[in-house]
Amino acid sequence: MAFPRRRMRRMRRTEGLRRMVRGRGLTADSLVMPLFVREGEGVRSPVDALPGHCQLSVDEMVKEAGEVDGLGIPAVLLFGIPDEKDEKGSQAFAGDGIVQRAIRAIKEEVPGLTVIGDVCLCEYTSHGHCGVIEDAEAPSQERTVDNDATLELLARTAVAQARAGADIVAPSAMMDGQVAAIRGALDADGRSEVAIMAYAAKYASSFYGPFREAAGSAMAFGDRRAYQMDPAVSSEAMEEMELDLEEGADILMVKPALCYMDIIRDARERFDCPLAAYSVSGEYSMVQAAAGKGWIDGRKAAMEILQGLVRAGADIIITYWAKDAVKWMEK
Ligand code: PBG
Repeated sequence: MAFPRRRMRRMRRTEGLRRMVRGRGLTADSLVMPLFVREGEGVRSPVDALPGHCQLSVDEMVKEAGEVDGLGIPAVLLFGIPDEKDEKGSQAFAGDGIVQRAIRAIKEEVPGLTVIGDVCLCEYTSHGHCGVIEDAEAPSQERTVDNDATLELLARTAVAQARAGADIVAPSAMMDGQVAAIRGALDADGRSEVAIMAYAAKYASSFYGPFREAAGSAMAFGDRRAYQMDPAVSSEAMEEMELDLEEGADILMVKPALCYMDIIRDARERFDCPLAAYSVSGEYSMVQAAAGKGWIDGRKAAMEILQGLVRAGADIIITYWAKDAVKWMEK
């Protein structure tokens, strides 16, 4: 007997039917909100290139963290903007560095919120690179970032954040061996409970542009292509992720998200561990800019991107739309 042709549209007819068959999809539980902390008091200084987001002083950040928590978003990811920068980014690992103070304050006032510290030196170095420069006297095009000297400083940064109360540290410098160095240092400091979210497949992307204004981490010379991944390459991504897992990563991240959904899907098929996608600053800002001109519906576009990342296989999505998305989901 011939079956009648399946009608694909039948289950799309009403919002009730669509909700029923959607699956778990996007929920507040999968979101992480990035925040930028700077010196001062009562400071909320808007970032032009990241409309709707501000650099916040510690007191303002605590208020923001309370709001994030109140919306049911489980975690924040913190970036620090120090007043003083130097060659090796000392404020990244100073016991009273800006991020360390922010972590302590959030943990005191909003104890239920998970705090993730971004572990990198680029916001703290005078030259804006993610590590220490090996040959500072050489012509700028020949200067390189010293991998192993940087590992030690990243490890110190992770330990400083853990001592301040971070639940998770997230190394983003793309130095070889950074996860192992950090795991070793955390364990040696008696902090084996602190987890590592590894920026495992992180590409040298133009989509970080607005972030560099937000975090004040533009480079004085060169670019990051000698340590971040080449956008044209996919084969190295799984190897980067495997290495990070072996070195002790608890969560693997793909960054950026939108142009790299193939990598998210490959990782989903290959690894059982929690998988994060970082929907980066440029992905947010280009939608906001187009929406501001009335060229696209910003809300629908944002939700479409976030749903796409869930579909690709991300468990965790770091996004500047975190708060908006929860409000939009409620409606
Ligand atoms: C630090 C870091 C960057 C981002 C997250 N961590 C910038 C970079 O690598 O240049 C970018 C995040 C975003 O664009 O939203 N290394």
